[in-house]
Amino acid sequence: MPVEQTNDKVILTHPKGASAEILLYGATVISYKIAGDERLFVSSKAALDGSKAVRGGIPVVFPCFGPPSHPDHMHLPQHGFARTSTWKFDSIVMDNNAGVSVKLYLVPTPEIEKVFDKPFALAYVVTLAEHQLSTDLHVTNTSTQAWEFQALFHNYIRAPADEVTVSPLSALSYYDKTESSDEAKKTPKVEQRYEVDVKKTTDSVYEAAPGKYKILWPGGGLDVRTTNFKDVVVWNPQESGKSMSDMEEGGWKNYVCVEPGHVRGYVRLDAGNTWVGQQVLEPKL
Ligand code: BG6
Repeated sequence: MPVEQTNDKVILTHPKGASAEILLYGATVISYKIAGDERLFVSSKAALDGSKAVRGGIPVVFPCFGPPSHPDHMHLPQHGFARTSTWKFDSIVMDNNAGVSVKLYLVPTPEIEKVFDKPFALAYVVTLAEHQLSTDLHVTNTSTQAWEFQALFHNYIRAPADEVTVSPLSALSYYDKTESSDEAKKTPKVEQRYEVDVKKTTDSVYEAAPGKYKILWPGGGLDVRTTNFKDVVVWNPQESGKSMSDMEEGGWKNYVCVEPGHVRGYVRLDAGNTWVGQQVLEPKL
């Protein structure tokens, strides 16, 4: 069956062998396999029961990135509520040899309204093709006034952290969050390297980035192509990952987070309008 639904997740299977699993909790893609290999990292200690955001896969970050910085976002938790809300299955969008695609949605619940009072509708379309996985976030302003948000896909790409590089990032302006988590108080640096590594603790927010990235390591790699995400975050905590209760021992050695987003400044969305942010992940085979 190309699309299988269980109580808590949706499983996509492509006729040529690729597969993906999406938890309704957070609309988190928790598995993407192609050619028999898992391409995402999920900590073996990650909670998958809806008790906290998943440590791994592709958490959806909305409507704020990191600690809230916008006056309308002050009641939100770090990275917003999308990753910790239970989404609903909407429909099968496509089911043929070109791809298998499903749509999930999230609208305000009483819990969300307590922390974010802007009327919205989110739709999330996940499409599995023979050689790639794409995720599209549709944000609709269902109110009568404009409001602002940030959005990001928090991709945990399975990769050897001591050997992986991310490029091209040279000459970009970036904020180094390892020095201070409060970006507003910092002056940006300019990236001198074409290929960035994460051999030491890395938490960098690149602005006005190219939108297409190569993640490479000896014997493997993955391309990320994005639309409407002008920024990208590269994160790996290295040894400081030990302090996360849901990170498996040594887990930080097995991934790099490459997170396309709109996280410097905000997207302003007029009443009745829809914004779409998209990414395509294409593993090297
Ligand atoms: C990254 C941030 O996107 O997410 C980091 O840049 C943060 O600063 C990391 O530590 C993980 O966040 P969380 O909330 O999932 O522990």
